[in-house]
Amino acid sequence: MRVAMIGTGYVGLVSGACFADFGHVVTCIDKDAAKIARLKDGVMPIFEPGLDTLVARNVREDRLFFDTNSAEAVRDADAVFIAVGTPSRRGDGHADLSYVYAAAEEIAGQIAGFTVVVTKSTVPVGTGDEIEAIIRRVRPDADVAVVSNPEFLREGAAINDFKRPDRVVVGIEDERARAVMSELYRPLNLNETPILFTGRRTSELTKYAANAFLAMKITFINEVADLCEVLGADVQQIARGIGLDNRIGSKFLHAGPGYGGSCFPKDTLALVRTAADAGSPIRLVETTVEVNDARKKAMAGKVVAGIGEDLAGKTIGVLGLTFKPNTDDMRDAPSLDIVPALQAMGAKIQAFDPEGHEARQMLPGVEFMAGPYEAAAGADALVILTEWDQFRALDLTRIREAMAQPVVIDLRNIYRPAEMKASGFRYFGVGRGAGSAQP
Ligand SMILES: NC(=O)c1ccc[n+]([C@@H]2O[C@H](COP(=O)([O-])OP(=O)(O)OC[C@H]3O[C@@H](n4cnc5c(N)ncnc54)[C@H](O)[C@@H]3O)[C@@H](O)[C@H]2O)c1
Repeated sequence: MRVAMIGTGYVGLVSGACFADFGHVVTCIDKDAAKIARLKDGVMPIFEPGLDTLVARNVREDRLFFDTNSAEAVRDADAVFIAVGTPSRRGDGHADLSYVYAAAEEIAGQIAGFTVVVTKSTVPVGTGDEIEAIIRRVRPDADVAVVSNPEFLREGAAINDFKRPDRVVVGIEDERARAVMSELYRPLNLNETPILFTGRRTSELTKYAANAFLAMKITFINEVADLCEVLGADVQQIARGIGLDNRIGSKFLHAGPGYGGSCFPKDTLALVRTAADAGSPIRLVETTVEVNDARKKAMAGKVVAGIGEDLAGKTIGVLGLTFKPNTDDMRDAPSLDIVPALQAMGAKIQAFDPEGHEARQMLPGVEFMAGPYEAAAGADALVILTEWDQFRALDLTRIREAMAQPVVIDLRNIYRPAEMKASGFRYFGVGRGAGSAQP
């Protein structure tokens, strides 16, 4: 199959490279000329484990191409994917569909022969109808089937998630699209991956329902963590105690500073808006959004509880700034709430993140350090914000000796309270009874 991928970001680049690895011929297109130039030079525009090797292999074997111009690839394509961003619209929280519609308009003029146009971006119910209307308006003669195929990959594990997904959801209104989509995903038959064919609106809503459910699950355990701190219980043990129940499942039960990232915040908000507009409010998700926003803002209070009210003149070391490990993505990271709140209270921040380079622009006033020990040097407290593997086995003696005061606030619960105490730290985790500071 020949594939054109419009939008070469976290989703477009990974999906394009994986489709190429399945054996299809893929052109990844992006408006960002610098991004395409770098890709042509073999330089990855994002950090995603394994991506550089995957891209290099498929480029070498002539299955993966990059272009700023979509005309040729779209004309030759059996399937054109739209994988552009759908950020929150300023002011009202609806998904901003301007990039999606602009892409639809552009490809409409280029399509030749029967073409399946596939929306991979996360889009509200009805967007497929609008894409179809745009294409029919621009090119009444075009022979297209517009399909919804939401992406469920996680940054940091994106390649494995794409190649070994729990399921693929495909929303179609035109039966001719079924054969094309089945052929595109045929390699997944080997793993017996369920491919769910649904109506287009159902598929669009499935993506939002999935993300909202996961965001709700995280928010649930975060509130249980708060309760643990008041009642003297341990949220980690509770998470295990409930997670072993198959009806609940152990994933997404790690208490922390609140969810962030490029998807959950904007997708939960967009679902809330869609539901409210439809006259069928989704109150559990509304509450999830509120609780999570408040949580991210309250997290600076945990640091205060650890080192005292007056942060003026205090130095705080921060480990991890990206919204989760194994990505360079800073979008809606909890650090973007917590770090400025600490600075506003007078603290000086010295931080280290292995890949969060964009933080340098997003967090003014922060001193960026070369490694975790440098971030700890002379600090009155060390705050663990993102659970990168390299923070899990620090030399605790070296950290303690480097710090001005041995205080660790571990917002990801990667250390054991007893071990930290034995190493001479005042240690505060999340939701771990007496060992947790209360915000
Ligand atoms: N990032 C994730 O983990 C993830 C997971 C699942 C779904 N999604 C969804 O996938 C979509 C894309 O997300 P992302 O994280 O890859 O975004 P991104 O911002 O990393 O990438 C989007 C890319 O599209 C390009 N673009 C915009 N308009 C274009 C046009 N008309 N022609 C060509 N290129 C254009 C941009 O330059 C950018 O490089 C969003 O709807 C998102 O919700 C993201």
